[in-house]
Amino acid sequence: MRIGVLTGGGDCPGLNAAIRAIVRKGINIHGHAIIGFRDGWKGPLENEFEELTIESTRGILPRGGTILGTSRTNPFKRDDGPALIRENLTSLQLDGLIAIGGEDTLGAAARLHDDHELPVLGVPKTIDNDLGATDLTFGFDTALQVATDAIDRLHTTAESHHRVMVVEVMGRHAGWIALHSGLAGGGDVILIPERPFDIEEVCGLIRRRHGRGRFFSIVVAAEGAVPKQGTMATAAGAVDEFGHVRLGGIGQRLEAEIEERTGFETRAVVLGHIQRGGTPTAFDRVLATRFGVAAIDAAHEGRWGTMPALKGTRIELVPLHEAVAELRTVPPEDFEVAAPFLG
Ligand code: F6P
Repeated sequence: MRIGVLTGGGDCPGLNAAIRAIVRKGINIHGHAIIGFRDGWKGPLENEFEELTIESTRGILPRGGTILGTSRTNPFKRDDGPALIRENLTSLQLDGLIAIGGEDTLGAAARLHDDHELPVLGVPKTIDNDLGATDLTFGFDTALQVATDAIDRLHTTAESHHRVMVVEVMGRHAGWIALHSGLAGGGDVILIPERPFDIEEVCGLIRRRHGRGRFFSIVVAAEGAVPKQGTMATAAGAVDEFGHVRLGGIGQRLEAEIEERTGFETRAVVLGHIQRGGTPTAFDRVLATRFGVAAIDAAHEGRWGTMPALKGTRIELVPLHEAVAELRTVPPEDFEVAAPFLG
């Protein structure tokens, strides 16, 4: 068989481990040829590709990013998108395509399969950990570790200066990074998109803590955290091809509000893309490898329209559309775990 592979959407640590797994199992065990498309859906739209070999994928396991490049190209932004992809898959004599991505890339993959009958299957990745149908995505564990390390470092400077430090972490619709890094790093306030916050309550928690003799606080805020309507000003930004607003800025707005309302000196730190860069943790390398192996096995069996998912500790194939039907956000009971540690 000849199988294509692409990586789309935001990069994350573990993508190269997944590519390597697809290449190794595909070539060494199944005897397939693997074609790598460049820059997400742009590759199969514009026929930009390279053959992936054992040699060309050597040494990439610990490398962050993706050797294939990525983009936020939406194949449905152009009318002839699905037809162009079909044409290019045919001209390259490909039997199918493995799309490694998050909600947008896999959403497009599901539509291409379900509505246009293209032989596509998916592999779930994203530092946000917000895909349905899988218990975890790779990339999350590394981002979580980066955020936790940052919070640990911010503790010592916050304590020395008696300051409030606001740490803005990624998480557009889901607060997994904020909640877990807040728990792991001992955050005093945790703000997630799933629970609009009241700025006065936030300040109340900080005042209470200071009243108990702790003269510094760490506020962990997901970039998608939003104030309850009317409690604090919000800002809007540019929109990408999938209609997502470019986030960022909540940290700085919190810095100003907290300092003004409490009188405590406050600083904001935006971790941003640092969370997506660098070498993947061992956990992410292993999960990406398991997903990659399961994906090429599924392609070998012609199980198009599916996606390997982590269910407990096992990998199972699920329908692709299940993964993108609904985002996996933080349930209230998970957030409740943090309650005893706040303020
Ligand atoms: O890939 C997910 C993510 O990292 C989100 O957490 C974040 O909102 C977004 O990507 C940032 O996208 P970009 O790299 O295009 O600025």
